Amino acid sequence: MTGGASGLGLAIVRRFVNEGARVVVFDRDATRLASVAAELGDSVAAVHGDVSRLADNERAVEMATATFGKLDIFIANAGIWDGGLSVIDLPAEKIEQAFDELFAINVRGGLLGARAAAPALAATRGNMVFTISNAGFYPGGGGPLYTASKHAVVGLVRQLAHELAPKIRVNAVAPGALHSNLSGPAALHLDGRSLIEGRSDELIARAIPLAISPQAEDYAASYVLLASRTASKVTTGAVINADGGLGVTGIGCVTAGLDL
Ligand SMILES: NC(=O)c1ccc[n+]([C@@H]2O[C@H](COP(=O)([O-])OP(=O)(O)OC[C@H]3O[C@@H](n4cnc5c(N)ncnc54)[C@H](O)[C@@H]3O)[C@@H](O)[C@H]2O)c1
Repeated sequence: MTGGASGLGLAIVRRFVNEGARVVVFDRDATRLASVAAELGDSVAAVHGDVSRLADNERAVEMATATFGKLDIFIANAGIWDGGLSVIDLPAEKIEQAFDELFAINVRGGLLGARAAAPALAATRGNMVFTISNAGFYPGGGGPLYTASKHAVVGLVRQLAHELAPKIRVNAVAPGALHSNLSGPAALHLDGRSLIEGRSDELIARAIPLAISPQAEDYAASYVLLASRTASKVTTGAVINADGGLGVTGIGCVTAGLDL
C-alpha cells in the first residue's frame, strides 16, 4: 500500500486491517509512518521509501513476503498535486522540474510498484488497485501537470490489465474530493504543505451532484470490492468513478467554483 501513512491511503489501510488483512504501509513520511505503526501494531509493517525508486518498491514487496508470507494485493495510491497551477501560472524556470517530479511520483511510481509487485502477485493470483482521481477523466481538478498525470494512470491501468491477465487483475478507483494532506512538488515549494485543507465541506457539497462532502473512509469500500477475489473475479481494467456524480453532469470542478 503506497502513500498509506496519510489521507485516503491511511483510511484504506484501516479498512483493510478491519477486514482482517495485514498491510505493508510504504510511505516517504517517517513521522506519519511511525504513528500508523503505533496505531495498528502487528497488522502493519512500515516501509520508509520513495515510490519513484524501483529499489524502494522492491524493498516493500520483500517486506510483505518476509513478514506476511505472500502478497495478495498491491495498492498504488501515493500521489502529489500541482496546486491547480495553470499552464500560464506555472513558473517558467520551474516547469520542467515540476513536471518531472510530479510524473515521477504519480505515474512512474505506479509503474515501478507494479513491476516490483507483479512476480509476487502472479504467485498468488493477486491483484492491483490504483488511485486515480476525477482529474483522470475531466479538466478542472488540478492544473495540466496533475490532470495529465492522472489521465496517464488510466492508460497505465488498462495496459497493465491487458498485459498481466490472466494471472493478475488490475483496476482503479477515481475518487473525487476528500480532506487530506495532499501536497505538491518541491520544485514549486509546495512540498510538505496541505494544499487542499482550506476547502470547506459546504463548497465541496455544492460542487458535487450528490451534495455531500466525502471523507477519506467513504472511498475505502471501493478498494475492498475491487481487491476481493470473489466479488471482482471477472473485473479487470475497470475504474470505479467515485466522484459523487461530477462526470454525469459534465459541469467539472472549476465551473462549480471548486478547485478539487
Ligand atoms: N485529496 C483529494 O482531494 C484527492 C482527490 C482525488 C484523488 N486523490 C489522490 O489520492 C491519493 C492520496 O492522496 P491524499 O489526498 O490522501 O494525500 P496525502 O498527502 O494525505 O497522502 C498521500 C501520501 O503519499 C505519500 N507520498 C507522496 N509522495 C510519495 C513518494 N514519492 N513516495 C512514497 N510516499 C509518498 C505522502 O507522504 C502521503 O502520506 C493521491 O494519488 C491523490 O492524487 C486525492
